[in-house]
Amino acid sequence: MTSLAISASRILLIIGGGVAAYKSLELIRRLRERGANVRVVMTAAAQQFVSPLSAAALSGAAVRDDLFSLVDEAEMGHIELSRSADLIVVAPATADLLARMAQGLANDLASTTLLATDKRVLVAPAMNVRMWLHPATQRNVGTLRGDGVAFVGPDDGEMACGEFGPGRMAEPLAIVAAIERQLLQPTVIPLPDGPPLRGPLSDRHVVVTAGPTFEPIDPVRFIGNRSSGRQGFALAEAAVGAGARVTLISGPVALLDPPGALVVRVETAKQMLDAALAAMPADVFIAAAAVADWRVEAVSDQKLKKGARGAPSLSLVENPDILGRIAATSAARPRLVAGFAAETENVIENAKRKLSRKGCDLIVANSVAEGSGVFGGAENEVHIVTASGVSSWPRMSKPEIAYKLIELFATRLRSVQ
Ligand code: C5P
Repeated sequence: MTSLAISASRILLIIGGGVAAYKSLELIRRLRERGANVRVVMTAAAQQFVSPLSAAALSGAAVRDDLFSLVDEAEMGHIELSRSADLIVVAPATADLLARMAQGLANDLASTTLLATDKRVLVAPAMNVRMWLHPATQRNVGTLRGDGVAFVGPDDGEMACGEFGPGRMAEPLAIVAAIERQLLQPTVIPLPDGPPLRGPLSDRHVVVTAGPTFEPIDPVRFIGNRSSGRQGFALAEAAVGAGARVTLISGPVALLDPPGALVVRVETAKQMLDAALAAMPADVFIAAAAVADWRVEAVSDQKLKKGARGAPSLSLVENPDILGRIAATSAARPRLVAGFAAETENVIENAKRKLSRKGCDLIVANSVAEGSGVFGGAENEVHIVTASGVSSWPRMSKPEIAYKLIELFATRLRSVQ
């Protein structure tokens, strides 16, 4: 499958000290050619196997190796380093590094970063077969799995030391595939105060779609739009604040997961529809995503090349209408289905038409005309269109609109009990 999960993702690669470190240079290349932003941390031992200069040249960024570097701390502290990535990948992960991770030690930049992170961690172990099979290593692997650390490999095969068995680091492309799977997995960041909040949406399930969809053309190109996802994320946050169980299904955006919501990251409209259907049943469905209307009919497995035949022509097919499909579900339809209508003209008339065409209960209509600053911006000016009329709200920040909308949805839910 062509996946765009890696494109524009931020990967922090920690290279441990092992013969397999040379394969991590190849991994950097594979990630970069898929559009990832790669930052590299190397342990002191790793530098005995590959040079930081090679890793810096391939990643296009300075390599970090020193916990006590004043320059690095001034530019980007190690805590920030550990949090600004979407995923931390440890490759190769040596027996020593796994042991330190399992113990929670923080005695160099690599282990400190791993202890300070709130992001997912994927490790690709590489070591001598006896070291891998040793009960101490297996105990550490068990501990790390219990902590939620994901593993790829090790593979069986002949090792640099001449022995045979499990211990070889997974091949770079297998690590790339594991990274893709990790980036697409749903996550829930716990609320800072622990248990869910109580509020007007307690015991309700709210599903929100947000952000753009990216429809692939080839492994590196896509059709997308400028949606920032802010309005959808603000709605998810407000719904969590109102006590709801929240599933946020988001296309590719540069926003942090709102704490307390289950965040399902998708890329395409088809994936968004599948995720929305899988999230059912729900009490409230809010379609705030800017879903691409069309996708490319035949996605190329290989990057399209310039050639004598000139520009390629792309044949497009229509995407499923997620809002329409959810509103039309006969069994267990959410009691409140709300959509957004971003229009450049005749905002209210078009929203009214959309309300009946999509079969939803409420449309939040706004103007995205040039100069409105709404698309990708921080503020919005909306009109609430229902079967019984239109209510126009003054211009507000997207979080304020989100809170007022969630209040309105809670009130409507109570009235349709
Ligand atoms: O059809 P249009 O894009 O104008 O409708 C906008 C509303 O429909 C938004 O709520 C959007 O999230 C939703 N939508 C959808 N699936 C599509 C297209 C739009 O859920 N394929």
